[in-house]
Amino acid sequence: RAPEDARAADAARDALVRDAAGRSERKEDHVRLAAAQWNAQRTTEFDDLEFVHHALAGVTPARVDLSVEMFGRTVASPFYINGMTGGTESTGRINRALAIAARETGLAMGCGSVSIALDDPSTADHFRVIRRENPDGIVMANLGVGRSAEDARRAVDLLEADALQVHVNAVQEIAMPEGSPELSDWLRDVEAIVESSAVPVLVKEVGFGLSRRTLAQLAGIGVTWADVSGRGGTDFLAIENDRRPGGDYSYLTGFGQSAPAALLESVRPDGWVRVGDGLTLFASGGVRNPLDVLKALALGARSVGVAGSFLKAVVDGGEERLIALIRTWQEHTRDLAALLGAATAAELTTTDLLIRGRLREFCDLRGID
Ligand code: FNR
Repeated sequence: RAPEDARAADAARDALVRDAAGRSERKEDHVRLAAAQWNAQRTTEFDDLEFVHHALAGVTPARVDLSVEMFGRTVASPFYINGMTGGTESTGRINRALAIAARETGLAMGCGSVSIALDDPSTADHFRVIRRENPDGIVMANLGVGRSAEDARRAVDLLEADALQVHVNAVQEIAMPEGSPELSDWLRDVEAIVESSAVPVLVKEVGFGLSRRTLAQLAGIGVTWADVSGRGGTDFLAIENDRRPGGDYSYLTGFGQSAPAALLESVRPDGWVRVGDGLTLFASGGVRNPLDVLKALALGARSVGVAGSFLKAVVDGGEERLIALIRTWQEHTRDLAALLGAATAAELTTTDLLIRGRLREFCDLRGID
């Protein structure tokens, strides 16, 4: 029996490594297609939001402090590099560039799902590079829902992470050629991770939004951090469609909620999250510029995640291009907050914000005033 067991174990390990090889290709496809797809000029539901200008409301930019708390630590900027990639040589280089940019600008950062490194340790260095380049910064590990609590612990250990992002990506799983058929047990899976995690767990979407009902369910199992990650930016339906030999899901374009819609549904006008005590919301999905950052903060997001915009900068011009872009965003978010009369990120929730178009319609349909 023993040699048979050994052979079975070898076969299982080989299967994992083969699977990891397929995933390597996927990681590279995602980066290539996301960067090619990114369009900073595209119209989104952030355009349905408009600040009212009050000419005498301004404060001096030097008085503005937009620092926010993330996982018990203070970070100077109210936006961060969202989870994206890792697991291959070229995506490891992107992680290195992102980590250097995070270190130089003081931003918190995530990484792509580390499940590939848990199954094939030879790929782990493409994630470890993040901690090597950025030993003191806030780093979030990342795993897809469906992995065990033990895997979550290993993911956090791998990056010596300050927090763990767990992504829930049902739409992507449906559209992805190699998607998981298991969607039913996700809430229990998240609960098991939250119960045993030594670091804060942040549950996020990947560009289709978290509804009020979903956030209430998450709050009910003890989740205290979530990123609504809505539609309007990186479009994983389009990406997975491009990766599909046939069976096109392009008719689903526009499925899900935008980040502004998700925030409007779940945060009260006074900035309190209405879906559960103790839940702190981040927002991401389609953030193209500093004005979008301020709009998300005004709708009650604690901080704002950026993936596609920053990935495009790295792919086009490496860490130098990204550092320059982030510095511009840091300057502009401060100056725009000054213009709006907000000396802090929290004060942005008291600005006058008009809601138009499709977003207004969403509010009407969902009974939000
Ligand atoms: C992602 N995103 C993502 N999210 C996650 O939690 N785990 C992951 O492994 C990945 N992988 C990934 C790869 C690439 C190339 C991109 C661009 C993005 C999703 C990301 O964190 C974010 O939720 C969405 O991209 C929406 O934000 P943007 O891109 O519109 O700013």
